[in-house]
Amino acid sequence: MIIEKKKLKNGFELPVFGFGTWGMGGRDKINPENDDKADIAAIRTAIEMGVIHIDTSAWYAEGHCEEIVGEAIKKYAREEILLTTKVPPMKLHYKDIINSAKESLSRLGTEYIDIYVIHNPNPFIDIRESMEAFDYLIDKKIIKNIGLSNFNVGQFTEAQKSTDNHIVCNHLHYNLKHRGPFSDGTIGYCQENDIIIVAWRPTQKGFFGCNNIDILNKMSQKYEKTPIQIAINWLISQKNMVTIPKSRNIEHFKENLGALGWKMEKSDIDILQNEFPGTVDIVENTTLAKLIQP
Ligand SMILES: NC(=O)c1ccc[n+]([C@@H]2O[C@H](COP(=O)([O-])OP(=O)(O)OC[C@H]3O[C@@H](n4cnc5c(N)ncnc54)[C@H](OP(=O)(O)O)[C@@H]3O)[C@@H](O)[C@H]2O)c1
Repeated sequence: MIIEKKKLKNGFELPVFGFGTWGMGGRDKINPENDDKADIAAIRTAIEMGVIHIDTSAWYAEGHCEEIVGEAIKKYAREEILLTTKVPPMKLHYKDIINSAKESLSRLGTEYIDIYVIHNPNPFIDIRESMEAFDYLIDKKIIKNIGLSNFNVGQFTEAQKSTDNHIVCNHLHYNLKHRGPFSDGTIGYCQENDIIIVAWRPTQKGFFGCNNIDILNKMSQKYEKTPIQIAINWLISQKNMVTIPKSRNIEHFKENLGALGWKMEKSDIDILQNEFPGTVDIVENTTLAKLIQP
């Protein structure tokens, strides 16, 4: 399957559907009991079925997740894959970023990273210092593009002011239920400023599939799609928005992929926007609060 892409003015493009890897190899720590082979097989299945964008992070399973991704992709031509990885927020000083990028290259078994992302803003480290390191990595062709994650409008603007390279994306927790980045203006800002929004947690960890939500049931019947397919389709119907569901379960993966290749009517997109019950409007940042020390 060829997955449609969203394109920026500078030519940068990302498929509307990529593959998330949070939880593969462990969570915050490496999980020795993890079935790495199953994770590698799941990533390869996704690639065989048309996925080219894989999202990981040096933070996931202490870097072991990157090793799993590296193992999975090594049998494919590198230029056929778009790799996103991220530098953790506690490593945003100049030298730390460069070292972290090089360590990621080694774990991923690659010579370059397509999109290198700051995983979370760090209010204790000057973003100008961080962006200088990102510019260096671009100059040295270690990374091809700069991205950010969980940055609000003020934080994104400060980062963009500190580099002449156009920052291509902002990863945000956004889905039918979690609307914080829409309510605080971050989504609108990205859409108006030629930035791709990478919506993370698109299924809300399967929540949309198992909660018998009336409005989703009605849309499911109308379009003959599952509630999760409706939820993912709703995301990618929006300007500049792509998403990265994670699944190591083949049935889940196929269901998620079934969100592509068809369109909802604009009036239904709006109904889901305005009438979905129990939306959450705050942006949670508990991980950051726990991990960052002044
Ligand atoms: N930048 C950030 O701060 C940030 C934060 C969180 C996540 N992310 C990225 O975004 C990706 C996606 O977010 P996420 O993994 O948190 O959430 P998600 O993709 O919404 O959900 C993943 C979870 O839901 C299950 N699932 C997936 N599809 C399903 C389906 N069709 N039916 C039922 N259950 C299903 C998966 O189980 P199975 O594996 O068993 O299918 C997994 O436990 C992550 O993997 C990560 O790459 C980024």
